[in-house]
Amino acid sequence: MTILIGLTGGIATGKSTVSNMFNAANIPVVDADAIAKDVVENDEEIYDAIVDAFGEDVLATDNTINRNTLAKRIFGDDAARKTLNAIVHPKVIDRINTEVDHLRKLNHEFIVVDAPLLFEAGLDKSVDVTVFVYARQKDQLDRITARDGIDKVYALKKIKAQFPLSKKRELADYTIDNSKSILDTKRAFTRTLEAIKRKAASQ
Ligand SMILES: Nc1ncnc2c1ncn2[C@@H]1O[C@H](COP(=O)(O)OP(=O)(O)OP(=O)(O)O)[C@@H](O)[C@H]1O
Ligand SMILES: [Mg+2]
Repeated sequence: MTILIGLTGGIATGKSTVSNMFNAANIPVVDADAIAKDVVENDEEIYDAIVDAFGEDVLATDNTINRNTLAKRIFGDDAARKTLNAIVHPKVIDRINTEVDHLRKLNHEFIVVDAPLLFEAGLDKSVDVTVFVYARQKDQLDRITARDGIDKVYALKKIKAQFPLSKKRELADYTIDNSKSILDTKRAFTRTLEAIKRKAASQ
């Protein structure tokens, strides 16, 4: 039987870093961020609904949706963020389920769903075990501003749009600490995977 692992964390706490470790351990990862990006960029129905809700201001000169412009509209405006989520999330969840079903048929022992909003979107209910990737808020801010070239005020708005890290940590079955070196994270990853395997074997 396949065990479905829900992987989550805060913005830039290291979800992708850890999902790469799962991949390297030959465990397939369904990437909710990549699916959401694809849905916004390529799904006509979603495109129309976004333009209807937010207007043509969110379009780039080539008429594609400018995800940065859209992000600026929704972070800091709860109502706008809820509107966008209501448009995009059902489709993203459908696509995640389709990919998981496909992978289940290949009889993998484990499948990972990497979803930043695992708890916020209620996806935790459809996985067997949840793993939270932790970093301090200071690391989060440093990593976001360095990687995305955005300022701290905007980075904090993005952070505040999710459940607090303390809540995610409390809700998750396992926590992988990614506040130190990548090598430390790799060790924590290995310990966590072993613990999940032991638990699965005892059931
Ligand atoms: N332990 C670490 N020490 C230093 N930098 C790190 C560490 N882990 C990750 N990073 C860096 O922090 C940034 C965010 O990491 P990563 O992309 O794994 O996070 P994420 O949670 O997937 O982010 P997002 O929310 O944007 O998807 C990257 O630039 C990465 O190289
Ligand atoms: Mg990521």
